[in-house]
Amino acid sequence: MTHSLLLEVKYIPSNLTYKIRKEVLWPHIKNNKFSIPIDTQKDTFHLGAYINNNIVSIGTFVKEKNKEFNTNKQYRLRAMATDFKFKQMGYGKKLFSHAINILKNKQIELLWCDARLEAIPFYKKLHMKSLNTIYNIKNIGPHQTMYIHI
Ligand SMILES: CC(C)(COP(=O)(O)OP(=O)(O)OC[C@H]1O[C@@H](n2cnc3c(N)ncnc32)[C@H](O)[C@@H]1OP(=O)(O)O)[C@@H](O)C(=O)NCCC(=O)NCCS
Repeated sequence: MTHSLLLEVKYIPSNLTYKIRKEVLWPHIKNNKFSIPIDTQKDTFHLGAYINNNIVSIGTFVKEKNKEFNTNKQYRLRAMATDFKFKQMGYGKKLFSHAINILKNKQIELLWCDARLEAIPFYKKLHMKSLNTIYNIKNIGPHQTMYIHI
């Protein structure tokens, strides 16, 4: 079921992603450093899905080319997560659709990500496709590359 009436997706500064990054994505990080080097790169943007004044879902979009794809204008989705209490309510999907519109306006042709295997059903619902290889990312687990032509 989707509860999206009060939802608003906005650009946010990277530090507002840290709480959900910490709780949902990277609980193994012990030094409280939830920034990643690309957070402040020129073409990076961060989105937050808000309900009232609370961020319930986050995603970071980075201009990065994956050589598996011929397309020139690529972006990479990183650190996509929804607060545990708000999972499976349609918020991640709303954030993703909003991002696709932004990327279309930037004339980006392809969005890709390293997807955790347990997140693949979510990305498939968003019409992303996967490459075949499964690879391990330290501390996190097996991943597969997923992508969508925009
Ligand atoms: C993956 C994640 C971001 C999905 O966010 P979400 O806000 O719960 O997803 P939504 O509610 O918008 O789901 C959109 C659709 O995908 C489906 N879906 C979401 N997670 C799913 C899952 N684990 N299994 C099956 N379907 C799933 C929803 O049912 C919904 O389907 P619908 O459009 O038919 O109603 C969230 O579960 C999460 O933070 N997971 C832990 C962190 C993580 O793995 N992040 C991805 C790193 S690669």
